Amino acid sequence: MFLQPLFWIYLLFLFLIFIFLTNRISFHPRLGWAEVYWTFFWCSSFLLVQAGLSFLFFRNWDFSWSGLSALSAASLVYLGLIFLWVVWMVLDHGFWKWFRLKPVQFTKTKVFQLKTNPKFLPPFGTLKKIGIENQLYQPQVTEYELKLEGWPQEWSGLTIVQVSDMHYGKYFPVDYYGTILEQVKKLKPDLFAFTGDLINTKSDAVAMKGLLKGFKAPLGVYAVLGNHDHRAGPQALTEALSRDGIQVLDNEVIYHKKKGKNLAIMGAAELWYGNKDTSALLNCEADAKLFLAHHPDHYFFGKKLGAHLQLSGHTHGGQIRFPLIGPLIVPSAAGRKYAQGFYWEKNTVLFVTNGIGCYPPLRTLCPPEIVKLVLKPA
Ligand SMILES: [Fe+2]
Repeated sequence: MFLQPLFWIYLLFLFLIFIFLTNRISFHPRLGWAEVYWTFFWCSSFLLVQAGLSFLFFRNWDFSWSGLSALSAASLVYLGLIFLWVVWMVLDHGFWKWFRLKPVQFTKTKVFQLKTNPKFLPPFGTLKKIGIENQLYQPQVTEYELKLEGWPQEWSGLTIVQVSDMHYGKYFPVDYYGTILEQVKKLKPDLFAFTGDLINTKSDAVAMKGLLKGFKAPLGVYAVLGNHDHRAGPQALTEALSRDGIQVLDNEVIYHKKKGKNLAIMGAAELWYGNKDTSALLNCEADAKLFLAHHPDHYFFGKKLGAHLQLSGHTHGGQIRFPLIGPLIVPSAAGRKYAQGFYWEKNTVLFVTNGIGCYPPLRTLCPPEIVKLVLKPA
């Protein structure tokens, strides 16, 4: 059996389906459970059912082509379903990637590493011996010039610095954040956007007091909350942030005017747990619309709002990426589609950042990033 290529193809197909389902099903809070419990519950159920079916299957097939004809009708249906599912997955992804996405007009203008203290060493350092480098402490700033269709000339040159997924207090020593955030403050954009998952537990909101103080920008410093922030305690975090001069947008819009043209900064409440009243966003009318939403899965709403640009995080860029293959696990109902980078569907460009934090403490081929965007009309 182990020598038959069909056996390995069968296992590969099962694995692909497992990964597909894991990405789509796992990362929703169901039954009021946190993602981690729900993921554990459903993954074990899937593996048990598949192991049981495979056990029955192994008994009447030797995994040779010639043995196929001897299989029972039920086994052939089972095998057919697995095959069709994988074919459908490939076609669906290909159709989306090659036909539905429009090419985004962006140029990477600058990339530079932030200075960190050499005392910060990542875990799993020994993986380097087998070519896997843990990039946890290699934060970089990436600057892009982004051209947006319909973006008003009056707001041409607007600069935004996006910081996402800090996950304060989880895996990094606390002085690490101070080291890099001091450098981020010096990027001097027109506005700072924190796109969620700043903390992990309620005590973090108090513990990080003052860490985010001193961010200054002419158009303001804004944050939207992520799933981890919500489980930790949105109230305490919102209060801590506002004390530090950061405005949390909870389905709220802030308007700025320049030469008669309105810029709307729209901030989404957290997708799974947050406030469901989106009327302020739906009623927003502006010449330039920027949408901040922690989850890339909020893209459906960004498109509905007619936002020119949506900034998201949450996925950590897939965090553990493999050469050619990319990431296997991405916490999104769209699977790996919106793991990292620029996308353009309908009238809205989506940008998903790698963010600076981690969960678990391993990053490969996916360095922590802070992003600076310069927006121009197309
Ligand atoms: Fe998140």
